[in-house]
Amino acid sequence: MPLSKIAGIGYYVPKNVFTNNDLTKFMDTSDEWIQERTGIQERRYAHRTEETTTTMGVAAATIAIERAGITPQDIDFIVFATLSPDYYFPGCGVLLQRAMKMKEIGALDVRNQCSGFVYALSVADQFIKTGMYKNILVVGSEKHSFGLDFSTRGRNISVIFGDGAGAVVLQPTTKDGQGILSTHLHSDGDSAEILAMYNPGTHANHWTADKVADFDTAEMGKMFMSHNMIDHAQNFPNMDGPAVFKKAIVKFPEVIMEALAANGLQTSDINLLIPHQANLRIAQFVQQKLKLSDNQVYNNIQKYGNTTAASVPIALCEAWELGKVKEGDLVCLAAFGSGFTWASALLRW
Ligand code: UT7
Repeated sequence: MPLSKIAGIGYYVPKNVFTNNDLTKFMDTSDEWIQERTGIQERRYAHRTEETTTTMGVAAATIAIERAGITPQDIDFIVFATLSPDYYFPGCGVLLQRAMKMKEIGALDVRNQCSGFVYALSVADQFIKTGMYKNILVVGSEKHSFGLDFSTRGRNISVIFGDGAGAVVLQPTTKDGQGILSTHLHSDGDSAEILAMYNPGTHANHWTADKVADFDTAEMGKMFMSHNMIDHAQNFPNMDGPAVFKKAIVKFPEVIMEALAANGLQTSDINLLIPHQANLRIAQFVQQKLKLSDNQVYNNIQKYGNTTAASVPIALCEAWELGKVKEGDLVCLAAFGSGFTWASALLRW
């Protein structure tokens, strides 16, 4: 059975830089608070009308496909991970297929939030291993800036997130020892509402009766999307930050150790860990817990904030461009986020 390798990688971030000080114009926050609690200095926001989650995905994919030495018409399957799709439905996968003039190939959307890219990579890896596809495009892209509450009410969430996209082309490899060694996927739905965007949705208060009040129940449509929801900021994400933090610092090390154990390897064997860029403090905690050196971990949340499904491929691509990922290196990707879902992938570059 052939393993799959990353044959091409690319990322795209919008030009528009938004610093912490820029955010203080809209909400009661400070550069000091944001840097101290998250490590973030600035993030990028997509152009309001000219850029979408799909167009950013296309920009990243174009680079990845070119670096793989193929054309969009060679791609035989798309896996697109995002929590901020252009449309409620259909997903971004088909929009990308259209925009890149690809053949009538399968396009799958993955909704696993911060661990979306690692989940998507794992799905693509299975299709390569079975021999079903030879050139799979895996994309993680987010346009968070359209779904954030930029008032003080939403400051615990809005300061964290940024926009951007990353993509890889996965192909079978015949080189001994090279490729994705294993992937590990987990979830715990007990905590689904701790980090969630409830509306628009079809839950009709079923799961969140104690948290979401004030619906106009007279008409079904109004339970899906109503003025009331907008008035009560229920169309924005909700997050119990400290609860997410506490779980993340347990699950990140656990899923990394699981990947190493599955391959008979140790933390000292890791050349580069790319943790999902949730919060620099989380990444530093994981680094300390696993006794990894600074050279073994790559972070870029300082520049881009948390780009959810895009954060792992953006960081991996940037690290690769900087020469921090070389042939033969053991690279570990790990992510944790809404769901809760968490995942890891171990690959030999
Ligand atoms: O991608 C995966 C998903 N997300 C995460 O992994 C996020 C994990 N959690 C976190 O990163 C952190 O919990 C946050 C960065 C979100 C928050 O940091 P924290 O140290 O846990 O702060 P906190 O939520 O406990 O809030 C501390 C204080 C509160 O004020 P009081 O009640 O102590 O007076 C907040 O109201 O900080 C206040 N606060 C802010 N102050 C200035 C919350 N957000 C802000 C803000 N600026 N942006």
